[in-house]
This record gives sequence, structure tokens and C-alpha cells, in this order.
Amino acid sequence: MQQLDGTQKYNILTYGCQMNVRDSETIAGLVEAMGYCETSTTEDADLIIFNTCSVRHSAENRVFGKLGEIRRLKLKNPEMLIAFGGCMAQIPDNQKRLKKQGVDIVFGTHNIHELPALIAKVKEQKARVMQVWEKEGQIVENIPNIRKPGLTAFVNIMYGCNNFCSYCIVPYTRGRERSRQPEDILTEIKRLGEQGYKEITLLGQNVNSYNSGGEKAYDFADLLCEAAEIESIQRIRFTTSHPKDISDKLIKTVAGHKKICKHIHMPLQAGSNEILRRMNRGYTREHYQSLTEKIRSAIPGAAITSDLIVGFPGETEQNFQQTLEMVEKVRFDAAFTFMYSVRKGTRAADFKDQLSLEEKKQRLSRLNELQYSIAADINRSLAGTVQEILVEGTSKTNPHRLTGRTDGNRIVIFSGPKELIGSFVHVRITRGTTFSLFGEIETN
Ligand code: SAH
Ligand code: SF4
Ligand code: F3S
Repeated sequence: MQQLDGTQKYNILTYGCQMNVRDSETIAGLVEAMGYCETSTTEDADLIIFNTCSVRHSAENRVFGKLGEIRRLKLKNPEMLIAFGGCMAQIPDNQKRLKKQGVDIVFGTHNIHELPALIAKVKEQKARVMQVWEKEGQIVENIPNIRKPGLTAFVNIMYGCNNFCSYCIVPYTRGRERSRQPEDILTEIKRLGEQGYKEITLLGQNVNSYNSGGEKAYDFADLLCEAAEIESIQRIRFTTSHPKDISDKLIKTVAGHKKICKHIHMPLQAGSNEILRRMNRGYTREHYQSLTEKIRSAIPGAAITSDLIVGFPGETEQNFQQTLEMVEKVRFDAAFTFMYSVRKGTRAADFKDQLSLEEKKQRLSRLNELQYSIAADINRSLAGTVQEILVEGTSKTNPHRLTGRTDGNRIVIFSGPKELIGSFVHVRITRGTTFSLFGEIETN
């Protein structure tokens, strides 16, 4: 393949979830192997790569807005290449639109490894290329990738999703569920620890359906157990847990290993059984509540967080009240809240009784008001406790302060010397707000 002279620069624009953050590390590795160097701005880049998200309409809009901006840069620098990948590229309507948008390369989530060949082809043929695999292929291991130096790293344990929640585009953009082999995952974690990473997050759309596929049954709890034995790593997180697949064995495993963070991100999505059924979530509010009780009794102090959607088609005021009720009952430590967004091609897009934007906005603000006040109450109640924190850097809002996270994924801000970055410290919490805790390092 054509080698560059080392002066060509690339810039990746990453949108969406941790899966995309991880994929961008692979994209970086692939283009650096071609001889491109990273630049932090788009203005001086010779290659701009979009890694996009389709989960909501607003996510797509943001990307198209940015694409308009980047195309103007191309007027000044016609040699610049624009590559467009990620979840949006998997969707036929977007592919049609991209054909008219002056994008040089379109590639999908299943053929990231082909990007260097596509770049070479565009340069050679001086014509645009669009290559998107409709279906997932075999998992490709050992693709070069460049991780940002740091303390925390993402490790994929599986790809795709088989759940087909009726609102969700992910099964269409990421294909069917495939699990990586335990040896590949464990070797990767071990290496990351040896390179200085302290905390890893295991990634999957539904980690509790991890299945190694080997002759001997080997599930997510088995994988967690083995990961926790790796000496070079201090903390292990995982996301996302689907409530229908959380097992007693998993809860026991989290409870039994100090290195496994006591935090379970377990999206409830809605509080009404009728809505949950139409969302195809596969559990009831009662099941969800009993799970939270089990988790909290087996893992004292566990943080439980959620995703919640308001304004699903046909959601009545009474259905919405049931979401509020569940939020009050369960008392989430934190929650991501969203207005339902119609995704063409999903089942819910054809459901009758779509709510107006105004109604959705109102419900979202009522939900946020309640959730924020609960999170603030919980955080305030932590005043006086001592928490173990991985010091991750200086605070974004105050460079004279340090920031880090607790086992339960709460952000803590405190004073201390920068030399502490990368180590674990004990912090006595002095106060809490909706999104963070403040404290002082314990000296004795
Ligand atoms: N696999 C994860 C979530 C992936 S998408 C899980 O099942 O929990 C992240 C979140 O986006 C979802 O949990 C859901 O709350 C939200 N989401 C997905 N599709 C959406 C849509 N069409 N409109 C609004 N929110 C959506
Ligand atoms: Fe989407 Fe449901 Fe799969 Fe999560 S489990 S990615 S919400 S279809
Ligand atoms: Fe992630 Fe968005 Fe795709 S949430 S899986 S990048 S649609």
C-alpha cells in the first residue's frame, strides 16, 4: 500500500457511545499505519474521518451540521479527503444523502479494517467510494489500534445486539450479537495493565448475554471473575446490563471481587408494563424492582444507574406517571434521560399515537427535575463518608483541583498535588450536588 511521507494529517470526529470511542482507536491505528499523523484540528487535516451515531434524530442532525462545515473547508483545500463511517453509514437513507454531499469515502461499522484500502482506492481512481457491508462478518482480531495514553480504557467483549427493542436502531447498524473469545479479551486486559492503564470498562450492548460459544459453558460472570484475577489492573467496570439477563451469579460475582466496581448500569427505559411490553424489553417493572432489591442487599452501597425514555408512542400521562413512580421507588444514583426519537425501520416508527415534541419536552423536564433532586439527595447523604478515588486528572471547571471517580462512578473534586494523578487516594466527602461530590484527601 502507498506510504505517505509523514506530513499528511488526520482528524477523527467521534460521536455516540463508547463503542464508537473504541472504534475510533482502531481507525486511528489503521490510518497511522498508513503514515498519517494525528492533528487536533480539522483546519489543517488532509483526512477527516466522521465516526457517527444514529441512536436519535438529534445525533444525526449534529453530524450533518458538522459535515456542512467540513465541506466548506474542502473548498479551500480540495485535496482534503472526507471519510464517513459509523452507525449512520449503515442506513440506506443516509447513504443516498451522502452521495450528494461531497463525501469521498463511506464505510460501515462492519468493515472498518477496509478503510486503508478505500483511502488508497480513492487516491488512485480519483473517484468516490462507498463500501458498506450490510451484514456483520467474522470478528477480526489484532487490527492495529492506537489508544490514547491514560488511566482508563475500553475493551469490547462483544459486538452487535439481538434484542430488537422496538425503538432502537442499534441492531440494524451493528448487526447480530457476536462475543469475542475469552483468551483474546483477557490478553488485551493484561497488556493494558502492563502499559499503565488502571481501570478498564468491558463493553457490550448487553454484557449479560456474553457467550463464549465454546464447548464448556462460559458466561459473563465467568469472564468477570477471570478479569478480576489479572494483577496489573486495579478496577473493572462493565456496561450495559440488560435487566432481563442479569443473573444471580453475576450479582454474586460483583459482590465477591474487590476489583469489580460496585456499579450496575441497568436501563429501565420506562416504568409502565404496557410500555415495556411494546418496547419489547422482556421484563416487567416488578422484575426490575426485585432485581434492584437483590443487588442492593447482596452488594451494600452499590450504585444503580439507568437510561429512561419519555414519550414513547402511545405513552399516556398515566404511563408516564409510572415512570416517575419507579424513579422514586428505585432511587437511581444517576440516569440518562431521553425524548423518544422515531428511527425509520424500527417497529415503533410505525406505532400510532406518536407524541408531540411539546409533550415530550414537558415530560422530559418533569422527569429530570425528579431525577436530579434524587441524585442530589443521594450525593448529599454521602457527606462524611470516605471514598476511594482513582485520581484521573485536573477538574475541567477548576484546573487547580483534581478529579477522579469512586467505585460507584461518582465524580469527586478535591485539592491535591498533580503528582497524585494515576494513583488511588481516600477522600472524605464534604458535600454533594446533583452531578458531583466534593471532598478533602484523608491524610491519615
Ligand atoms: N444497549 C444499551 C443501550 C444502547 S442505546 C441497552 O440496551 O441498555 C443507549 C440508550 O439510548 C438506550 O438505553 C435508550 O435509552 C436510548 N435510545 C435508544 N434508542 C432511542 C430512541 N429511538 N429514542 C430515544 N432514546 C433512545
Ligand atoms: Fe438497543 Fe435494546 Fe439492543 Fe440496547 S438492548 S442496543 S436498547 S435493541
Ligand atoms: Fe453507539 Fe450510536 Fe451506534 S449509541 S452503537 S454509536 S447508534
